[in-house]
Amino acid sequence: MLMPVPKLSASPKPARAKPDSSGVENLIRAMLKKHRTPFMLIRRSVLERQFQRFRKCLPEVMPYYAIKANPHPRAIKAFVKLGAGFDVASASEMKLVLSLGASRDKIIFANTVKSAEDIVTARRRQVRMMTFDNEPELYKIAEHYPGAHVLLRIKVGNEGSMVNLSLKFGADPEDAHLILRKARSLGLVPTGLSFHVGSQSKNVENYLQALEISANIFNQAKEHDVSLRIMDIGGGFPIQHFEDEIGVNFERMAAEIRKQIRRLFDKKVQFIAEPGRFLVGPAGVLVTQVTGRAFRGNKNYYYLNDGVYGDFSGMVFDHCKYEFKTLRRGQTFLSALAGPTCDSFDTLSLDVEIPELYVGDVVYVKNIGAYSSASAVANFNGFPPAKIVMV
Ligand SMILES: Cc1ncc(COP(=O)(O)O)c(C=O)c1O
Repeated sequence: MLMPVPKLSASPKPARAKPDSSGVENLIRAMLKKHRTPFMLIRRSVLERQFQRFRKCLPEVMPYYAIKANPHPRAIKAFVKLGAGFDVASASEMKLVLSLGASRDKIIFANTVKSAEDIVTARRRQVRMMTFDNEPELYKIAEHYPGAHVLLRIKVGNEGSMVNLSLKFGADPEDAHLILRKARSLGLVPTGLSFHVGSQSKNVENYLQALEISANIFNQAKEHDVSLRIMDIGGGFPIQHFEDEIGVNFERMAAEIRKQIRRLFDKKVQFIAEPGRFLVGPAGVLVTQVTGRAFRGNKNYYYLNDGVYGDFSGMVFDHCKYEFKTLRRGQTFLSALAGPTCDSFDTLSLDVEIPELYVGDVVYVKNIGAYSSASAVANFNGFPPAKIVMV
C-alpha cells in the first residue's frame, strides 16, 4: 500500500528529545535484558495511580474503563481488582471483560449502534445497560432485549478536543424527551443520558455545557413522568502526551465538573464516566530500536522496528503526536524517524532533535498506553506490533 507521506508536525521549533529522570530508563534497561523490542511496558502502579486520581477528584463519578483504549487482559484485570466498571463497544469486548471477572452490573454497552446479534449477546449475558441515540436502534433493542436499560446519548460540543466524537453520534438534545418516552412505550427502561465531549478534551467548558444541557433534559423528563437516574459523562479526560505540554490540569477540570454536578443535579442521580486515555495512557512506555540509518535531505533518518502500522497507529487514528526519547546522550541533531515498512506513510517525525544514533540504539515514547497497540495492524509487511509487558 503506498500513500502520500503524512504531513508531520509542522511545529515551529523541532521536537527536542530530553533525557528522562523518572526512573523509566532504568526500567527500560532492565526489561531489555528480558524482552526483544519492540515492547510496550504497561506499568500497573500508574494504572492504579490514575484510577485513584480519578476517584479522588470525582468521588461521585464511578469510572467505567473504556477498554477500547487498551484491551490487554492484564490491564482489564487490574481495573477489575480496583473495582472499576467497564465500557464495552461490542459483544466481543463484553465477553472479554466478563471472562476476566467484571460484574455484569458494572458494564455499559456504550455503542449507540449495535448489531442485533450483539444485543442478543447482551441479553444472554444479562448486561442490561446500553446507550442509543436514534429511534431505529430503539426498535432493534426492544425486539432483541425487551426491558433493557437505555441511556440516550446526546450530541454535545467537542470544541478543542483532539478527537471529535460528536460527528457520528448523538441525538439532538431537543428531541430527547420524545425519544425517551418512545423508549418507554416500546417496553424499555429509559434510565439516563450519556455524552462524549471528544477525546483528549482540554476544554472544561465542553463538560460544563454538556452537564447543563443534560440537567435540563433530566428536569424535562421528570415533568413527563420519565424518571432518569444515571448520568454518564463519557470519556475525554486529558493527559500530558508531552512532558512540557501546557493546558492539561485534570485536578482543576475535575473540580469544576464536580461543582457543576452539585449545582445542577439531584443527589439521587448516579454518575458514571467512561475514561479510556486518562486511565491507561500514562501507564504505557513503548520501547523500540534502530534497525538502520541513512543520510537523506541533509539529515539522518533512523529506521525503527515499530511504526504507524504498529504501535504508533495513534498518529493516524488518534491524531496523536508523541515525544521521542533516546537512551543515548550527547549533542543533538535535527533528524527523522521512520517505521519499518516499505511505505513512505510510515514516517514518524521529520524534525526530531536527538543525538546521533546507531543500529541497536533505543528510541522510546512515554504516555502511549492508549489507542496505540489497540489499533495496531498485526503483521503488515510481516512486522508484528510490540509485545505488551505488564510491570
Ligand atoms: C463511547 C465512548 N466512550 C468512551 C471513550 C473513551 O474516551 P477517552 O479515551 O477519551 O476517555 C470513547 C472513545 O472513543 C468512546 O467512543
